[in-house]
Amino acid sequence: MTSILPDPYSIPLEELDPSNSNLFLNQEHWAYFERLRKEDPVHYVDSEAFGPYWSVTKFQDIMYVDSHHELFSSEPRITLGTSSIDFEPPMFIAMDPPRHDEQRAAVTPAVAPKRLAELEDVIRGRVQTVLDGLPVGESFNWVDRVSIELTTQMLATLFDFPFEERHLLTYWSDVATANPELDADKARTEEERRDILIECQRRFAEIWQERAQQPPKMDLISLLAHNPNTANMDPIEMLGNLILLIVGGNDTTRNTMSASVYALHKFPEQYDKLRADPSHITSMISETIRWQTPLGHMRRLATQDTELGGKLIKKGDKVVMWYVSGNRDDEVIENPNDYIIDRPRARHHVSFGFGIHRCMGNRLAEMQLRILWEEIMLRFSKVEVLAEPERVNSNFVMGYVDLQVKLHPLS
Ligand code: HEM
Repeated sequence: MTSILPDPYSIPLEELDPSNSNLFLNQEHWAYFERLRKEDPVHYVDSEAFGPYWSVTKFQDIMYVDSHHELFSSEPRITLGTSSIDFEPPMFIAMDPPRHDEQRAAVTPAVAPKRLAELEDVIRGRVQTVLDGLPVGESFNWVDRVSIELTTQMLATLFDFPFEERHLLTYWSDVATANPELDADKARTEEERRDILIECQRRFAEIWQERAQQPPKMDLISLLAHNPNTANMDPIEMLGNLILLIVGGNDTTRNTMSASVYALHKFPEQYDKLRADPSHITSMISETIRWQTPLGHMRRLATQDTELGGKLIKKGDKVVMWYVSGNRDDEVIENPNDYIIDRPRARHHVSFGFGIHRCMGNRLAEMQLRILWEEIMLRFSKVEVLAEPERVNSNFVMGYVDLQVKLHPLS
């Protein structure tokens, strides 16, 4: 692809801003982050699109910010985001203690190890059905047929949402995260977006009422409806948290599923290694989550004057942790640009964050991906990638819109 954006080394350091979503769309962000990690790891940016913020690009600094929630608040929002979206219901990922802790504790049992063990057979059965329904030897979009379908099914299971209506979950997630300036086909007025999300709230409120009358179960809605800290949440906060749980598990897992196929295509010797020894699947999944970094950044707000990497961060300053850069920091990860499925300490990455907001669904995501690859290896000798993927235009979701593949049967 020919570059349409300036070479980062041709820009004066003080003007370097890695937040332009076109950089990610064209995969040109890597050189920007490499320069920032080397020359100015805690970098002040006066961004045309997002205003002033601190850009944090090295692994250890990211860990520091993420594990000091008392210095770096998650309120009121956790993305650089756009200012054009003014309907943002509250959710616990964008809250500080004590509210955050109470609400997170209410839903954690839905993804606790015991519950995941119970879900494993259901998830495996659904993966088998989806894989068995795929065309062999023909071109198709892996993103739609596998990544989106399986993630949607997983969400329906977590919410115990009516299975035949499951596509509503992905629809609401897309509406909640759509960037009206970038997603032309999803462009809706703020009013339309609000109406769709209010409809989502109405549907969930119905289910919530039903579950509240029934004995407690382990799905996300029942857990919220029966916990004294969340049972009487106001409707807008209920909506916010349900959206968080849908969005949290949706794009991230979906894009890791696509990334696993793409990465094995870019590093064919790693695919050979996997075929020779499928016991690498577990570390291969962690390596994919690092290599892809499904969420590019999280934002914080400094609660007081503080120092980071020798820079003075003032109370109220925005601080952006670029996970996508931290995962390529060669002071912590050897040959970070390479995809190595049997990498030692493969789980040592920042894709799930750290500290009190560390991804709640990380074990569920890993399990879903492990099962997918265990079942792929039993059916297909190769998932061949036929063309470079079409990507999501975002500095937040590192994802795929279209990945054309062809399946080869086991011979
Ligand atoms: C590969 C898949 C996934 C990735 C890369 C991912 C990434 C992340 C990241 C970066 C955070 C914020 C961490 C921080 O601020 O320190 C987060 C939080 C969260 N994730 Fe995930 N996630 C994934 C899958 C899931 C799934 C399947 C769920 C479904 C339950 C989920 C639910 C959440 C929730 C509820 C939070 C908020 C936690 C809090 O604020 O305490 N995630 N995730």
